[in-house]
Amino acid sequence: MSKRYYLTTPIYYPSDNLHIGHTYTTVAADTLKKFKQAQGYEVYFVTGSDEHGQKIEQKAKENNMEPKEYVDMIVENIKRLWSMLGVSYDKFIRTTDKDHEKVVQKIFTQLYEQGDIYKSHYEGWYCTPCESFWTESQLLDGKCPDCGRDVQLTKEEAYFFRLSKYKDRIIQLFEENPDFLQPESRRNEMINNFLKEGLEDISVSRSTFDWGVKVPFDPKHVVYVWIDALACYITALGYGMDNDENFQKFWPANLHLVGKEIVRFHTIIWPALLMALGLEVPKKVFGHGWILFDDDKMSKSKGNVIYPEPIIDLYGIDAFRYFLLRDFSFGQDGSFTREKFLQRINSDLANDLGNLVSRTVTMVEKYNDGILPEPVLKEELDNSLVEVAVNAKEKVEKYMDQLNFSQALEEIWKVVRRTNKYIDETTPWILIKEGKKDRLDTVLYNLTESIRIIATLISPFMENTAKEIFNQIGFSHKIDWEEAKEWGIIKAGTKVNKGKVLFPRMDIAKELEKLEEANQKLIEERSKKAEGEEEYISIEDFDKVKLKVAEVIEVKDHPNADKLLVLKLKLGDEIRQVVSGIKKYYSKEDLVGKKVVVIANLKPVKLRGIESKGMILAAEKDGKLTLVSTLEDIESGATIS
Ligand code: MSP
Repeated sequence: MSKRYYLTTPIYYPSDNLHIGHTYTTVAADTLKKFKQAQGYEVYFVTGSDEHGQKIEQKAKENNMEPKEYVDMIVENIKRLWSMLGVSYDKFIRTTDKDHEKVVQKIFTQLYEQGDIYKSHYEGWYCTPCESFWTESQLLDGKCPDCGRDVQLTKEEAYFFRLSKYKDRIIQLFEENPDFLQPESRRNEMINNFLKEGLEDISVSRSTFDWGVKVPFDPKHVVYVWIDALACYITALGYGMDNDENFQKFWPANLHLVGKEIVRFHTIIWPALLMALGLEVPKKVFGHGWILFDDDKMSKSKGNVIYPEPIIDLYGIDAFRYFLLRDFSFGQDGSFTREKFLQRINSDLANDLGNLVSRTVTMVEKYNDGILPEPVLKEELDNSLVEVAVNAKEKVEKYMDQLNFSQALEEIWKVVRRTNKYIDETTPWILIKEGKKDRLDTVLYNLTESIRIIATLISPFMENTAKEIFNQIGFSHKIDWEEAKEWGIIKAGTKVNKGKVLFPRMDIAKELEKLEEANQKLIEERSKKAEGEEEYISIEDFDKVKLKVAEVIEVKDHPNADKLLVLKLKLGDEIRQVVSGIKKYYSKEDLVGKKVVVIANLKPVKLRGIESKGMILAAEKDGKLTLVSTLEDIESGATIS
């Protein structure tokens, strides 16, 4: 069996607004890389940036920059984030790499010459942010079915790829390889929503903008960004280049990890392109779910983005990575809440794991001068601990092979909890009092050995924590995955070192505020930066904002947030509810009867579980805040323009 593993994340759009959702695919891929490596695989892990297209061209223009200059600047954000998260990729490919661009041109020419690409006209609806064309019937309420944004009717000359020609082979690929696309639900979705309906040829060039790889034989066209980006998976290995050693060695990919919204590109268009090129198709594509906030998609415009930086700054990489992979079920969508994050860290990392290590090391120090004793007096009870510990590896492997990260971690935590229970069952503090030194020695040895197994098993998920635990139990070996199924590896006589507390226990209410504030600060900083970039708005932009006078008729405390109030407002004949963060500045009584100004057409959001329809305006400076009102009294519902 070949012990090689080629693994990719998607090729990311460079952005100055990467949130925790973006980290999901990459953290999962990096963990899988470390897991496969631990198992002895030679792993090649590719990620990169998808830098062409109209959206980037527009952004560059807004910033008065050339597109290349602009992407050079923002691509650093992605790399910075990966390094902050301890992600170790083997190759970061950029679609603007010259050798990649050349191969994309070669591929396009080859497909054209062999008749798989032909010239025609395109008429359809184009979503600029998604860089996707849609037919009328694919639109949802007239908007892009992927992102819900506006689409533009576009007619242009374009090159087309004969996707229809590959329909039968794609269906066969799905039928003969149930594992090709996972999880099962996505496979059914692709078969029922796309394959059964038949595949239409797709346009693969654009001529209405310039920023892309030029079609070599018709340079007013640029290659469709998706072909450009998908090709990265093979150009990153040197396909079509002088040195294609890695391509020979690693292709076909063992796994493309992607978010659910881009499964169609990876399981229909990509295999068809590969078939046309006479290349093997990837062995597996896994479409994971989304991380949502309040059950809604995170986006800068909704102001509900959760950034990874404050979480990592406050609690470290390992806590963040653990939470992402433990709390969400990888194949499905899940909602992020700060409460869940903090509770998880407190219970699993501080209480269960952290306590186990610190109690054990402290006892070895206290009862045996920090030296790991010889296990001389074994008892029946020990077997149940040993059994759970040495059998965990196989279970973890089984779940990791299914990409069920959460269950794999649960299997490790079964060992953690069993080991903690072993302390309660054996009561070492009584053994020392009763002078049962032989038995105490065995208990201390068993606890430490179980911790060694736990640290080995968590190493692909939490590298730093695993190393720190090894250090504290004085185990200086290199982490050896196979040794996770062995008992008796750590040597008696080893010196333990009581180190720092792995995960300090936290006061959730306090941390919640800290975390929320840090995230909010970052949102403000980033939006200020963006505002600075575009100094003016047009009158049409301003017209979009509907400002109205509203009378406060009722005020209550928010049931789930200390700083928020829930207000009932009267806007002419309409009564509506708004949540506002002004509790620190106004008492409830002061507010009733006041006339305030609200943005009336702001998209409703849920703030800590309570719906808010609109936003009350306030002026703020140096910690002072005052609500905005009109100079003279005017009836509620009056429009401000
Ligand atoms: N450029 C394309 C991919 C081309 S691959 C040949 C793209 N880029 S992206 O930057 O928009 O997305 C990168 C990855 O981040 C995708 O896997 C996407 O699903 C993931 N996520 C972005 N937001 C997400 C969440 N809120 N939750 C989980 N993952 C999501 O798509």
